Amino acid sequence: MPLRLQDLAVPILGAPMAGGPTTPALAAAVSNAGGLGFVAAGYLSADKFADAIAGARALTTAPIGVNLFVPGPSAATSEALERYRELLAPLAEHYGAQIPAPRADDDAWQAKLDVVADTAPEVASFTFGCPSAEVLGRLRDRGVTTAVTVTSVDEAGVAAAAGADVLVAQGPEAGGHRGTFDPIALPGEDPLDALLAAIVAAQDLPVIAAGGLASAADVRRVLDAGAAAAQAGTAFLLSDEAGTNAAYRSALTDDNFTKTVVTRAFSGRYARGLVNDFTRRFDAVAPLGYPEVNQMTGPLRRAAVAAGDPHGTNLWAGTSWRRTSGGSAADIVAALARDSG
Ligand SMILES: Cc1cc2nc3c(=O)[nH]c(=O)nc-3n(C[C@H](O)[C@H](O)[C@H](O)COP(=O)(O)O)c2cc1C
Repeated sequence: MPLRLQDLAVPILGAPMAGGPTTPALAAAVSNAGGLGFVAAGYLSADKFADAIAGARALTTAPIGVNLFVPGPSAATSEALERYRELLAPLAEHYGAQIPAPRADDDAWQAKLDVVADTAPEVASFTFGCPSAEVLGRLRDRGVTTAVTVTSVDEAGVAAAAGADVLVAQGPEAGGHRGTFDPIALPGEDPLDALLAAIVAAQDLPVIAAGGLASAADVRRVLDAGAAAAQAGTAFLLSDEAGTNAAYRSALTDDNFTKTVVTRAFSGRYARGLVNDFTRRFDAVAPLGYPEVNQMTGPLRRAAVAAGDPHGTNLWAGTSWRRTSGGSAADIVAALARDSG
């Protein structure tokens, strides 16, 4: 029987956070606490993704979710990428890093879909676009509940028409990448509450609310507005089980970081993170173009992390980052769920 969100002991989803923060231990801990933890497939090989699912399964018998990036057309032009390479060159030299030649990459989409079909996690969610009706139908036939991240009422309509079981309404407060289908569109800025109300009114599917949810009161508010569950990412970044690197962790609690910005500077796609030297220097001049820009900045970001330097890497965080603290994922789930009963 497919998982229904109302069957969860608590209506809290631990957002997939590709690129390090999500670990099998974090996903399992959220599920063990009665919520739903997600394994993030983004940037992993299909084999590593399968290993991560197995790792989470070994730590919990509760339902788990997985999350995939939907490949789309890149907005990159070789001229714009070359120009960006020149702008990044001094920083690459500073870190002793090489900027690689960009290449086409669909994040192993087909192979990862096969992994999802083979392992049949209870939920599969998608971001950066909407899979075809055929893909969603294949997973549903395997007993997998499908969820599509949407950032507008129009995207919600597309996902519903394709046969998604659940919508994830992602507001502009959210940390990390916006799921906006069109990679060159400026992501919507209507606050989560307005987006959620509009999607709940327009569609007859369960809606998960995401973006800036950091307290029991936040969760209660979105449930009262018609959400079936709340998905939080930033709230888990400092958890014991998260793989958030040391430079990132310390920036999240450092008073010198005072703002977040939605920027394409790191990946060529819009994402919200803490303002640092990298965003100050490159936000205005970076081109759109995912995954090429992500590939080009990758070695610089890794070198910065290795050097413990929070100013050369992405520090994805939602607008609520100041209201998050550490502790076990179970305690964070319990705190978020306190008023949801
Ligand atoms: C570090 C980080 C990584 C993220 N990676 C993913 C991802 O791999 N897939 C995805 O669908 N969403 C990703 N997101 C977005 C979350 O799914 C969710 O929309 C967001 O965390 C909600 O806002 P909040 O961070 O304010 O709680 C990421 C968010 C963060 C903070």
